[in-house]
Amino acid sequence: MSNFTSLWFLLVFSYFFSNFLFDSIFTYSNASTLFPLQQEGDALIQAGWWVNQNISLRCKWKGITCDASGSIIMIQVRRSLPNGSTLHNLNFSSLPNLKGLYLINSSLQGGIPPEISQLSKLTSLFLGSNDLSGEVPLELGNLTNLLELDLRNNMFTGTIPSTIGRLTNLKTLDLSHNQIGGFIPSQIGNMKSLTGLYLGNNLIIGSIPSAFGNLSNLSNIVMKHNKLIGPLPTTFWSLTRLIWLSLSYNYFNDSVSQKIQKFKGLEILELHENVFSGPILFSVVHLTNLSILNLSSNRFNGTIPVQIDHLEKLNILNVSYNMFSGPIPATLVGLLYSTHSPYYVLNNGITLEIDFSHNFIDGELPRLSLDNHLRPTSINISYNNLVGKISDSFLFFRSVNLSYNKFEGEVCDQILHRFDVSAVLGNQKLCGSIPPLHPCDSQNHGIFKMLMILLPSVFFFVLCFSCFTLVRSRSKKKVTHEIESNKHGNVFCIWDYDGKVAYDDIIEATEDFDIKYCIGTGGYGSVYKASLPNGKVVALKKLHTREAQERTVYKSFQNEVDMLKEIRHRNIIKLYGYCLHKRSMFLIYEYMERGSLFWVLSNDTEAVELDWKKRLIILQRVSHALSYIHHDCITPIIHRDVTTCNILLDSNLEAFLSDFGISRLLDHELSYHTTVGGTCGYIAPELAYSVVISEKCDVYSFGVVALEVIMGKHPGELLTYLWSKSIPRIFIKDLLDSRLKSPLLQIGLTQSILLTLTLAFACLHPNPKARPTMQHLTREFNIRRPYQDELAFNEITIDQLVKQEIYYVHQI
Ligand SMILES: *[C@@H]1O[C@H](CO)[C@@H](O)[C@H](O)[C@H]1NC(C)=O
Ligand SMILES: *[C@@H]1O[C@H](CO)[C@@H](O)[C@H](O)[C@H]1NC(C)=O
Ligand SMILES: *[C@@H]1O[C@H](CO)[C@@H](O)[C@H](O)[C@H]1NC(C)=O
Ligand SMILES: *[C@@H]1O[C@H](CO)[C@@H](O)[C@H](O)[C@H]1NC(C)=O
Repeated sequence: MSNFTSLWFLLVFSYFFSNFLFDSIFTYSNASTLFPLQQEGDALIQAGWWVNQNISLRCKWKGITCDASGSIIMIQVRRSLPNGSTLHNLNFSSLPNLKGLYLINSSLQGGIPPEISQLSKLTSLFLGSNDLSGEVPLELGNLTNLLELDLRNNMFTGTIPSTIGRLTNLKTLDLSHNQIGGFIPSQIGNMKSLTGLYLGNNLIIGSIPSAFGNLSNLSNIVMKHNKLIGPLPTTFWSLTRLIWLSLSYNYFNDSVSQKIQKFKGLEILELHENVFSGPILFSVVHLTNLSILNLSSNRFNGTIPVQIDHLEKLNILNVSYNMFSGPIPATLVGLLYSTHSPYYVLNNGITLEIDFSHNFIDGELPRLSLDNHLRPTSINISYNNLVGKISDSFLFFRSVNLSYNKFEGEVCDQILHRFDVSAVLGNQKLCGSIPPLHPCDSQNHGIFKMLMILLPSVFFFVLCFSCFTLVRSRSKKKVTHEIESNKHGNVFCIWDYDGKVAYDDIIEATEDFDIKYCIGTGGYGSVYKASLPNGKVVALKKLHTREAQERTVYKSFQNEVDMLKEIRHRNIIKLYGYCLHKRSMFLIYEYMERGSLFWVLSNDTEAVELDWKKRLIILQRVSHALSYIHHDCITPIIHRDVTTCNILLDSNLEAFLSDFGISRLLDHELSYHTTVGGTCGYIAPELAYSVVISEKCDVYSFGVVALEVIMGKHPGELLTYLWSKSIPRIFIKDLLDSRLKSPLLQIGLTQSILLTLTLAFACLHPNPKARPTMQHLTREFNIRRPYQDELAFNEITIDQLVKQEIYYVHQI
């Protein structure tokens, strides 16, 4: 007991004494040799990376973290260091307690000095994205406490040192994007804790050593773009925890068939551009978690198994440039429908890209039924031996390439116009109205002409019909059209809703739109809450009588109805019906218990309930809904008024996009020239000097909404200087809605917030062309990002996210 007390006393005393002494005599240069903590400060000053700083406050310098005793345990630099900075600048022996060294994107030059092995307590070493060169030193192997080692994106040469095998605690090793050559040392098999191994984009030769089989914790292996050869060792197939396997762009020549089945949890399998062979698909169809399957440019063969529809999470299926043969099984169609829960859709994206091109596939294409909801699908089956006619159902695809097959008969004009004639070239027996296709013979000409007239209307009919059946099948309710003639005069109402609801019921439920039922006022009218006699509660959006007579308002009303009828998305508000009447027009919506996102954010109690996770989910859902209207509707739609007022929340705080009052159907070819709509504070800057509307205006507004959701209030003037030359230094932590608990308390949350903010800032780019598309954003939300770096969060500033130093927004 007394021992402990005196020790404690001694510690406290020596700490204060050293500081006191330092303050009074810090001009004496040799003072530092007396006091180890002082040496730490000296090392930093000598490095020249911090200038004009008070050394006794070093624990508060930007990027420095100390432990309770005042010893430096972490250095994090994410800025450019002075020209010519090298790791030799840092006196490692003065920093005995350092655990984390993060020098990312700091313009470091030179090599890694062997003295780095003096940092014996180091657990995280991040030196990515610098100009480091030379060999990876043997001495790194002395850092046996390392958990993460990141040297990616430098100019390292030489080979992977065999001493790396001593890093038995290492979880992530990233040497990608360097010029490292030589063989993979067999000692790598000792790194039993390894979960992520990233060696891609180097010059590594030889084959994968059989010691790999010991790395039973590996979940991610990325070795693409190297010069690796030969078959995979038999031990490789025991890595049953693999989730991401990328061996593409090498010279592997294994026959892969049964074995791959062992990787049951695989989500990404990239073997493209190798010399792999074997009837791989028969075993791949059992990897039901696959979302990316790229086998392109190998020598795989065999037929496409009927079980292909088991891969229902696939987003990319690329088997092009192989030797697959036989017909495409009818079950493939199963992949094209979206039968998944919205949660699944949100997390994995709903698009599907199929590439079967350059194989020996024959037979006819399976028939598509349009009863179900098609996923947005691109399909390339060019350069095969497919026969039969080209069905009109291809119109429902996002992109199509059927060229260089043996298709015959007539191809309809809609397909030629939508996908260009190049999509069907190289089919000798095909005819159509656009050269170089030869015209269909005159015998059919009459029928052809008739079709020309009929098809558009048939197409339109099918479209409307499928819209309606979809909306209907969802609610399984009857549609009632009625034209009533009663005391209110002529009323035209359409209900897609539970039973029969009369105009009178509405009037009664709202006491003829009495103010006490009004729950909000929007651009064109007011919103009322009505409890109908059947017990249902609905929201009514009623246009004011005066306005109802105005043509523009009437048109806006029509627009909203037209659009909502076509749209079917889980996060877009459901339209139950509408009424047109001389005196009033109104829309009947699903009622949203929690009102608008704006309202929830402005109420302190409700805002707290809307925690970080819920907020991020709301943003993902809204981005998904916008991506849907921009890219997945047959006619793209621009919302034009994306604000927190127009995002409504139901009782589960699920978000719904509403108010299409001023959006317009966007013609594919033309940008819109039209009067400015939208809400101040959300309108994209280009609309100030031009009236060209594109979906990038919605992207901008989404960026504002995302910031607002994270900040808890409208970002205001932040928007004006965000992309200016001199962004003020604002820490991200100071940007966050202060009513919520710090996201640091929850694992992974800070990353999601940083990613969301990075995406939001990209959306707010002043140049519309530089903004990402909504489709692209939804994808970015879902990209697996292997690195965790919670510690730096408090240091990160806005400009780092704007410059995408932490997360990079991939442009398509
Ligand atoms: C450094 O900071 C200490 C503690 O705040 C203060 O007492 C001292 O005067 C400062 N020294 C200089 C040179 O600014
Ligand atoms: C590094 O620091 C140690 C004491 O921690 C000292 O002995 C040594 O001289 C320093 N090296 C250089 C190059 O300054
Ligand atoms: C560090 O590694 C080198 C080379 O691997 C070795 O010679 C040296 O003894 C090691 N030093 C310590 C302090 O372990
Ligand atoms: C597939 O993914 C789900 C959800 O991530 C997971 O629960 C399941 O274990 C995975 N299946 C396999 C075989 O790993």
